[in-house]
Amino acid sequence: MVLQGLRRLEYRGYDSAGIAVVAEGELSSAKKAGKLANLEKVLADRPLPAATVGIGHTRWATHGGPTDRNAHPHVSTGGDVAVVHNGIIENFASLRAECEAAGIEFSSDTDTEVAAHLLTAAYADAPEGEGRLAEAMRAICRRLEGAFTLVATHAAEPDTLVAARRSSPLVVGVGETADGTAEYFLGSDVAAFIGHTRNALELGQDQIVQIDRTAGVTVTDFAGAAVEPTAYTVDWDAAAAEKGGYDWFMLKEIAEQPKAIADTLLGRLGDHGNLILDEVRLSDQELRDIDKIFVVSCGTSFHAGLIAKYAIEHWTRIPVEVEVASEFRYRDPVLDRSTLVIVISQSGETMDTLMALRHAKEQKARVLAICNANGSTIPRESDAVLYTHAGPEIAVASTKAFLSQIVACYLVGLFLAQVRGMKYEDEVAAIVEDLRKLPDAVAQVLTGMDEVRALGRSLADADTVLFLGRHVGFPVALEGALKLKELAYIHAEGFAAGELKHGPIAVIDQGTPVVVIVPSPHSRESVHGKVVSNIQEVRARGARTIVIAEEGDEDVVPYADHLIRVPRTPTLLAPVVTTVPLQVLACEIATTRGLDVDQPRNLAKSVTVE
Ligand code: M6R
Repeated sequence: MVLQGLRRLEYRGYDSAGIAVVAEGELSSAKKAGKLANLEKVLADRPLPAATVGIGHTRWATHGGPTDRNAHPHVSTGGDVAVVHNGIIENFASLRAECEAAGIEFSSDTDTEVAAHLLTAAYADAPEGEGRLAEAMRAICRRLEGAFTLVATHAAEPDTLVAARRSSPLVVGVGETADGTAEYFLGSDVAAFIGHTRNALELGQDQIVQIDRTAGVTVTDFAGAAVEPTAYTVDWDAAAAEKGGYDWFMLKEIAEQPKAIADTLLGRLGDHGNLILDEVRLSDQELRDIDKIFVVSCGTSFHAGLIAKYAIEHWTRIPVEVEVASEFRYRDPVLDRSTLVIVISQSGETMDTLMALRHAKEQKARVLAICNANGSTIPRESDAVLYTHAGPEIAVASTKAFLSQIVACYLVGLFLAQVRGMKYEDEVAAIVEDLRKLPDAVAQVLTGMDEVRALGRSLADADTVLFLGRHVGFPVALEGALKLKELAYIHAEGFAAGELKHGPIAVIDQGTPVVVIVPSPHSRESVHGKVVSNIQEVRARGARTIVIAEEGDEDVVPYADHLIRVPRTPTLLAPVVTTVPLQVLACEIATTRGLDVDQPRNLAKSVTVE
């Protein structure tokens, strides 16, 4: 059961794995560097005893390389306590020195191991009887600095599991076996136990949960005060997290994009072309008071933010700044009560984004989260939330979550324009109509991907691929380059096409593939002609041009070595359709290169450390 849970969390990215069980008063464990298959081999040669309490972990190396000895669980010197840990214990060096001064020999290079030794000592000091392991966990958590989720088991407590959470994800699952016996789960996300139960409990910051065979679930804060956890039901099931006949989760998720967009729009578009965002818990007055917006996020979610800027500024005339979360709080941004900070995160657990949101709240700004994972930390700590309903995204590379994020940003922008009276009702209604057409437009793009795949196969040996775009096509170029880098390990860069002559054009050589995202020739603010010139400029210098252009755009035909057509879509909404061929292209190139599309090397799905 534990291995199965780890399998379901594989998508988060890892480089070693391990497991520990308590049976008949003894703790047994196994761990191995590499994929779960390596651990399974170890377990086949040396099976662990049957048990009803077990913990498991997949580790993404931070302190210490991805080796057998650094894999979790970490077991205390006497072999009584096993600990698994996500996050970083920032004061581990001083704690380790303290343990070493007390004669403890460490058997790994991790920050985690200190927790196993400290817990053993704290357990010895805790009063005997019920709740002793939880009391020990509280004692050590009060000393730990940084972000962590810890789960611990003790040989003397065969009916108990204890876990702690600070700024790192942890959810509890409450289920029932076939014969009606209660069963409990802990996981970094619900995917770990979704095959067993959809009933979950949310834990807050700085909380300890004890799971006991008879007493069930008890939650306290680090001081020991009782806390009532919030129960919720997961609105997707195990089938939603299966590959459903596709070779890769990513392919399935690309195919699910029309539905992801439709579900994100569902219930939010009114019959009269108006927007209904009741769930955004900011009053109309608060929305009217906003005089500046920051969009803060990481990776692909950052690209969604860049697209949001064009739409929100155009529709609302409120200035929008977009920033990567890891930079935001360190440069002391100017924020106050009338600033709206929109944080975008698929997982809702990205540490950089979470820290940026906390900084924004400290500065009294209002925070609105756009998030895909229900019950995750970022929406919980935000003033308001708009969920993208993309369903579980398992592949490390974000696809359907990205398109849903863009759509959610459109909803926010248009809603602000509606509430602030920046657009007439019929103008809002016209854009709403365009939004409604997006799922079909994406479905149409998906039906014509055979040529893109063939193109992908022909690009498998490329050393470098460049992506060019202007206006909203620029963030799409950045996203196309990111997808290619993370999936195919090919050097790729996205440029604003207008910047070409200011430097980047120097890298173009004979045969360099250059992907160009061409804006609609019909839009009022069109820079179409300029981009067509850019295609000619790179082609004249030997580039192999791959052109993504609207149906009917004949201007690009003479200069396109490869032409990928997308349906006509209003300029601001075009990224939703133009991104799709770039996802398929990157996926095909990676597959042709024989790479693991769903779990690219060195990457984690959710980056829960800074
Ligand atoms: O869960 P989040 O949206 O906060 O994640 C942000 C980035 O880590 C994520 O988008 C990452 O860049 C993906 N690997 C992109 O495919």
